[in-house]
Amino acid sequence: MNARTDRQEAKLQPPKPGRYRLPTLVQPNWRPRDLLVALGGDPREELATLLCARYGVRHCLLLDRARSGMYLLIRAAGIGGEWILPSFMHRPSVVLLRQQLAAIAFADIDPHFCIDPVSAERLITRNTRAILATHSYGKAADLPALRRLADAHGIMLIENAVHMAGRQRIRDRIVGSFGDAALLSFNVDKPLGAILGGALLTNDNALWGSLSAFPLEYASIRETRERIFTTYMAYRLKPWLLRLPFMRAYRAAVDGAAEVESFSAERYRKYTPHRIHPLQAAVALQCLRREDQLLQRRAENAERLQRGLADLEELDLPLHEPERPHCHTYFPVILRDGSRFRLGERLAAAGIETKWRYYPMHMQAAFANVRRDVMARTEILWRQHLLLPAGARTATQGIDHLVKAVRRALRA
Ligand SMILES: Cc1ncc(COP(=O)(O)O)c(C=O)c1O
Repeated sequence: MNARTDRQEAKLQPPKPGRYRLPTLVQPNWRPRDLLVALGGDPREELATLLCARYGVRHCLLLDRARSGMYLLIRAAGIGGEWILPSFMHRPSVVLLRQQLAAIAFADIDPHFCIDPVSAERLITRNTRAILATHSYGKAADLPALRRLADAHGIMLIENAVHMAGRQRIRDRIVGSFGDAALLSFNVDKPLGAILGGALLTNDNALWGSLSAFPLEYASIRETRERIFTTYMAYRLKPWLLRLPFMRAYRAAVDGAAEVESFSAERYRKYTPHRIHPLQAAVALQCLRREDQLLQRRAENAERLQRGLADLEELDLPLHEPERPHCHTYFPVILRDGSRFRLGERLAAAGIETKWRYYPMHMQAAFANVRRDVMARTEILWRQHLLLPAGARTATQGIDHLVKAVRRALRA
């Protein structure tokens, strides 16, 4: 496939429904009244303490975004050299890493969309300093294997836990505490579903010493205000806004575009990490207090959806493995014949929003010359997957509607 068709394919997303029969794919957890809590005092210490308990770590630095944590690991903790990361990754974060590090290298993914330890191992050289493992879509990466690999080569393991909720265990260890450090994001499309904000977690006292000594800028109230507006409007009000004729341009908006092209590969030559804003921290704290309920609803929905679709030969569903907990931040299905766009179109006609994410970095022109392993699985899984709206706000009847609509669409 040439670069032009690659770019066109990256932009292609299923149409938005004319009328939503189910909640949007990304479902905000935060509520406007959560903002009032900010009036009750500074919630940051309590939030940091609670996060430490939920992810099984000693130290938590609250930040404006997860990517600020990546920056600090390089600039404050001095973890430079080369990092190995999956090609199936968030473009702005990879742009930042590439600008700040001597080099990056792209590994393939396993059948769960997470970095494949065998592929990562093939890329290790004497310049490698860290492996960045994303728990993609809420499924834990193969942490025991990655930890062994990192220890065997004397390199760091960093968990990109932006999709991973707290209290997910592998044997008696919590996901988030396997890495030398872990990154969290509180954004609306992440497990907490709040208003941006993030954290850097670690159990390593020496690392903590250098990270916590780094001078951080205060968060901008302007950005926080904008985010309050966009995270609410873009998701909670989207089904209604899209009915307005002048919002048609928005309906045609391509969700993947910001991650693919409009985010310049030249950005982040300079980067300034900020502290979290107290408003963001207050909302994140409220969302965290509701997290157990939320996780339970998501698990119930995922189980019901899994049961409803299990017999369909056209689909592969999220795989269950005891050592790979899944908090179902997203529910990906894999269309064996690659017809995800057609399924997305038919589901949109039934009032159901779908999409896919993370156009593989090695397939993007600006990253084509990054050192990499063979990407067989990344390319296949990326081309075949579609995300279904099975979040906590989708009611049981909504899941049943989704099951029927998928069955009808595949048989049509
Ligand atoms: C996989 C992944 N990693 C990292 C990030 C960066 O998170 P933040 O926006 O908090 O910097 C994102 C954001 O969408 C992401 O999807």
